[in-house]
Amino acid sequence: MGKIKNLLMAFLVLLTCCTNESGIKPKKKIIIGFSQCTMIDDWRKTMVEEMKREIAFFNDYDIKLIVKDANDNSDTQIKDIRELIAQGINILIVSPNEAAELTPVVEEVYKKGIPVIVIDRKINSQMYSAFIGADNLLVGKEAGYFASELLKGKGKILEITGLKGSTPAIERSRGFHEIIDKYPEIITTKVIEGAWLEEKTLEITDSLFRTFTDFDLIFAHNDFMANAASISARKHKIKTFIIGVDGMNTPNGGVNMVIKGFIDGTIYYPTGGDKAIQLAIDILSGKPYEKNISLSSFRIDNTNARTIWLQGQQIREQQAKIDKQNEQLKNISNLLYRRNIILLMSYSIIIMMIIIMIITFVSWKNKSRMNKILDEKNKTIREQNQIITKQRDDSINFLMVAEEAKENKLRLFTDLSHELRTVVTLITNPINDILNATYDESLRTKIKVLQRSTDRLARLTDSILKFRSIDENKYQLTFYSANISHFIKNIAETFEEQAKNKNITLRTEIPEEIYAEFDLGVIEKVMYNLLSNAIKYTNKSGIVIVSLKAENSKINIKVQDTGVGIPKRELPLLFNRFYRINNSSYTSDNEKIGVGLALCKELINLHGGQITVESIENQGTTFFISIPQFHSFTDAINNKKIKKTDILNIENATAVDYEKTVLIVEDNPDVQSVIVNIIGKYYNVLTARDGREGLNLSIKKIPDLILSDILMPVMDGMQLCIEVKKHAATCHIPVVLLTAIDSPENTIKSFDIGADAYVTKPFNEFVLLSNIRNLIENREKLREFYCPSPFFRNLIYTKDQAEGDFIKECLNIIYENIENDNFTLTSLSKKMNMSRSSFYRRIIETTAIKPVDFIKKAKLNYAAKLILSNGNKTINEISWRSGFSDPKYFSKCFIQEFGINPSSFSKDYLNKRTEEKNV
Ligand code: FRU
Repeated sequence: MGKIKNLLMAFLVLLTCCTNESGIKPKKKIIIGFSQCTMIDDWRKTMVEEMKREIAFFNDYDIKLIVKDANDNSDTQIKDIRELIAQGINILIVSPNEAAELTPVVEEVYKKGIPVIVIDRKINSQMYSAFIGADNLLVGKEAGYFASELLKGKGKILEITGLKGSTPAIERSRGFHEIIDKYPEIITTKVIEGAWLEEKTLEITDSLFRTFTDFDLIFAHNDFMANAASISARKHKIKTFIIGVDGMNTPNGGVNMVIKGFIDGTIYYPTGGDKAIQLAIDILSGKPYEKNISLSSFRIDNTNARTIWLQGQQIREQQAKIDKQNEQLKNISNLLYRRNIILLMSYSIIIMMIIIMIITFVSWKNKSRMNKILDEKNKTIREQNQIITKQRDDSINFLMVAEEAKENKLRLFTDLSHELRTVVTLITNPINDILNATYDESLRTKIKVLQRSTDRLARLTDSILKFRSIDENKYQLTFYSANISHFIKNIAETFEEQAKNKNITLRTEIPEEIYAEFDLGVIEKVMYNLLSNAIKYTNKSGIVIVSLKAENSKINIKVQDTGVGIPKRELPLLFNRFYRINNSSYTSDNEKIGVGLALCKELINLHGGQITVESIENQGTTFFISIPQFHSFTDAINNKKIKKTDILNIENATAVDYEKTVLIVEDNPDVQSVIVNIIGKYYNVLTARDGREGLNLSIKKIPDLILSDILMPVMDGMQLCIEVKKHAATCHIPVVLLTAIDSPENTIKSFDIGADAYVTKPFNEFVLLSNIRNLIENREKLREFYCPSPFFRNLIYTKDQAEGDFIKECLNIIYENIENDNFTLTSLSKKMNMSRSSFYRRIIETTAIKPVDFIKKAKLNYAAKLILSNGNKTINEISWRSGFSDPKYFSKCFIQEFGINPSSFSKDYLNKRTEEKNV
């Protein structure tokens, strides 16, 4: 910026030089105000012409001349002078009409500091800058000498004066009389006032000459009045000498009047117009000047008049030439001025171009320097980016490996627990049979313990699955309204035998009937854990107390022992999932199979409660559990971890599988309760009493399987199956038909209408369960095949219909526009006829993810389907066809979504995973 400023300064200096060089110097402005007493006669006109001509010689000044004509009126002239001052004149030239009247205004101007030149006529004061004009006293005297010579010392005189108040009239008269008064025989017989005017004089002389004719000489103060007297004298045939003043060398002037013989002589009286201008410039430019400039005058008579006329002729010719030259000079000067302007503009343009070139060059220089620096920086950033990208890729790889290892481990546990559960189920049924077959109470008590233990074993195996569900945020609670006192007492009772063996007093302090809404599995698991720990780490003869209280809408459970206790420093870490206490053997059996206090804490938290511990080494430990007594329905919906399920009211309920829901449609209440008992052990159960109710419920709840009787009122099972398979929201649900009629026709008809299995009554419990399990698992595989992302499966199939439809519609639009790179969130919301903000909210509410992620997931899902439907496509092609312009980015997202590289993803891979699951 500094440099540019300097350049501009240089430009201005240069411009100034050029301006001076080109002669375009600004001229000094001067305004000259000229107040004329009159412009009626040629003498006055000549005065102004002389002024103008003189101005033309002053080329260095821009001179403006303002002339005001007072028309022989002193008041007008005073007004004129004031106006000139208001116009801002630099100098005033004034020829005052009457001395006395004009003196104050001239003094006023002078006092203001404006120079004043008085011309021809004077004022009665010295307050002016300079006076210019011929000496009227001398003029009068010269006229006196002339008259005495013409009259030869004897004769009668008529004097025609100028305006009485004007100084030339006074002085001319005085000078004239100073001379003629010396001749006693020369007498002025009449004096009349012509006031400088020809017409006025003509009137007076005309009437005067009618009565007075005896004049030998007429002295008129100017040639105009002299001419009037001459006309009148000739008219009245009066022979007399006539002398005038002025002697203008013009056709109607005094010189010609002498030549023509109208008058006998005249005294030359110059106007002094040119001199007045010279004087004005001198005064304004500060040059020295004289205060009184006296112009010379002389006599003109028949001896010199012709010569003067001829000289005047020459002067007039010269004057015309000078005027012409002046005009040409003016034109040339204008031309020069214009040329100089053009020259100056050219200079300016050239200089500006040079400056622009310099600036451009400097900027270019700077830019290339900056570019170099930027290139360097970019290079460094690129290198850093490469390092960061590599580090990130390494981290991703590491995480992928770790995640896979964790996944393998969990899968192993999951699969093992599935197998264990099957085995336990096989043990449970014979135990039930034995219990039903014996009436020996002591044996029954033992078998009951056995029964409870196998139940517990089944639930423990489930715990592994639960833990995984918590891990994946999928664990869903089902609240049952049940007698929690009864439930806790029952659990405590199962430990009585164990306590007795160690001589431990197991006491319960539980009121008879307290009802609460709680997840049976969660509370049971936690209580088993705490009680088994308490018994295990309490020495012989110790005490374990289980107490329960309902306080302030909370259920507070306490498990207290007099055992070994936990070291103080270990207490804060006790619920840490990966923490194992070192110096104490305070671990639970469950922990050894991966379920321990950490799970207890997570489950209680999930339940909306807290678990805390207090312990003193060698004195004992107390666990405190506090859970809400009731859960409002809104709570259940708002808490994402809680399954959206109506709170059921089941007495003596047993724990169930919370993952899947089976709808049982059966009109016979007894048969329904048998089926509920069998199925309810493993699945959530919904019940309906006929096909219509079943259909409505399946649309509303979208169960994972429908188990329906065929013969029912209102709508039978076959019709229900047809309707379910017709309905878009339910067509994927497997339907198992139950019937007492075992005929091939029925079987064929069932499959014709789309039933997935057909089971005849009386059914074998295991056959039914294994049918249900296979159908649900097969459906899963099928869904996985067509819709690899579990995200969309859940969204489409397990939400209510309106939400499912909404998601499906979004997906359809995304898929329709999949190859359009420019398809954005705004385009999607527009197509859905929603505002961007309400669409954003709806997606978040429905899917719990951001809409951009939703679109990304949809594209990835599409990509996965593409890979599965055609294994020959390259990854680049898949990427482009799924709306990803950058295949690298696509691969990265794909790995993030499915945990596998798109190139390794194939049908074979899916099959392998399914097989692994089934091992
Ligand atoms: C012109 C004039 C001249 C005379 C002068 C006196 O107006 O009358 O003829 O010499 O004025 O002021």
